[in-house]
Amino acid sequence: MSDEPRPFRWPTDGNLPLEPDLEQWSALTDTVKGFLARALTHLDDGPTLSAHQTGDLPSDTPHENLEEYLRALFDSGFDTAHPGFMAYIPGGGLVTSALADWVIKTMNRYGTAYFAAPKLAELEYQVVRLFADWVGYGEHAGGVLTTGGSLANFTAMVTARRAMLPENFLQGVMYCSDQTHHSVMKAANLAGFSARNIRVMPSDAAYRLQPEPLLEQIATDLRDGYLPFLVVASAGTTNTGSIDPLPELADICAEQHLWFHVDAAYGGAFLLTKRGRQRLVGIKRADSVTLDPHKGLFMPYGTGGVVVKDRDRLIEAHELRGDYMPDLDRERAHLDPFSLSVELSREHRGLKVALPLMLHGKQAFTDALDEKLDLTDKLSDALRAIPEIEVLNNPELTTVVFRKLPERDAEAENRAFLDRINAGNKVYLSPTILKGHFVLRVSILSHRTHDKELNTVLAEIQRALP
Ligand SMILES: Cc1ncc(COP(=O)(O)O)c(C=O)c1O
Repeated sequence: MSDEPRPFRWPTDGNLPLEPDLEQWSALTDTVKGFLARALTHLDDGPTLSAHQTGDLPSDTPHENLEEYLRALFDSGFDTAHPGFMAYIPGGGLVTSALADWVIKTMNRYGTAYFAAPKLAELEYQVVRLFADWVGYGEHAGGVLTTGGSLANFTAMVTARRAMLPENFLQGVMYCSDQTHHSVMKAANLAGFSARNIRVMPSDAAYRLQPEPLLEQIATDLRDGYLPFLVVASAGTTNTGSIDPLPELADICAEQHLWFHVDAAYGGAFLLTKRGRQRLVGIKRADSVTLDPHKGLFMPYGTGGVVVKDRDRLIEAHELRGDYMPDLDRERAHLDPFSLSVELSREHRGLKVALPLMLHGKQAFTDALDEKLDLTDKLSDALRAIPEIEVLNNPELTTVVFRKLPERDAEAENRAFLDRINAGNKVYLSPTILKGHFVLRVSILSHRTHDKELNTVLAEIQRALP
């Protein structure tokens, strides 16, 4: 691939009217349906990693052959919808959510405010309320659906800053662990903080934020004239799925008058399961919680959310109006997404979550999440039984971290080990750096990943051992 800028190819003979007639629209949707049906049918037997790893675009243009164009476009990189995709934090992508999004985008209603689409705003609020109920919040909770966990963490950061710090907030200090997702640091930077306002605490042997050193650091910062205002705990770290000690951290935040944010982007959906509720005990004491339906609720990318115990704090941090907006009923600000987030014009986001929840039912999600926990335990046990492999975590969620016991150069050997596993093209795993070591991760969170894929990943790992 050259570094030459490649201009957008805009064919001069594209001649579809901006508003296709019903016949043209049906032909287009039939083609898209055919493409998707074939793609879904062959997910299982397709490769996890395409032979194409560059952004060279298809030479066909869509008006010549739409299906061919789409097929070529998706033939690159790794396949996040594949049942063998176990890298990063998978999510699968429920087709029912995609269908809801198709309806929403086609109807194109203004998902920004209650006055524009009251029923849609009410539906979105009900989804937020459902998440708040899972967390264990009371009636005055609120929240907003975002495009993902990063925007959710940013929304919480700004809300905490506004609620806890004076207008000149530059003495504010926030705390998190060295396992916290980088979107939290990014949120802090975007909210106006710099490295001097962020304390990244070393995690313990189970990769969790430690209460004692945290308390000591808070005391030091107070002595030095800083204003501690926020602790961010992880309920499911990205590296290992570890859950920080939420009750102890909630105690510290209550005693020290700090905002307590829990990033449950990964772990939040497990509140649907009994094991998840046990492991996430204490989460309801958080002031705000990030949940990310495009992870544990298997929704397609672009679906995140944040819930806040006292919705007034969220509104105070975000509400601002222009002259061109109608007079709004402030009693209903919690139903107006524009009063709850950085965004104004946006699509309605409730249906893409609500439709799958209603069509598949609660039990389907609970069973699927329980299945992922079981699969993870089985994988962890099976890997521990292989003498050449060292397992580095006791999974609390659905991620197993391991490495091949090194002979000489641990990093080079494990990089090569990972490449051999992925080269089989049946599964796709990603690495991370854990306490300075290059390690491999298996993260099981797609609704399409079952026992069959568990056997496959084990077989592939064994095949890749020297
Ligand atoms: C724990 C955690 N928090 C936040 C995020 C960021 O979420 P998103 O990628 O949806 O912006 C991730 C992403 O993997 C995550 O694992």
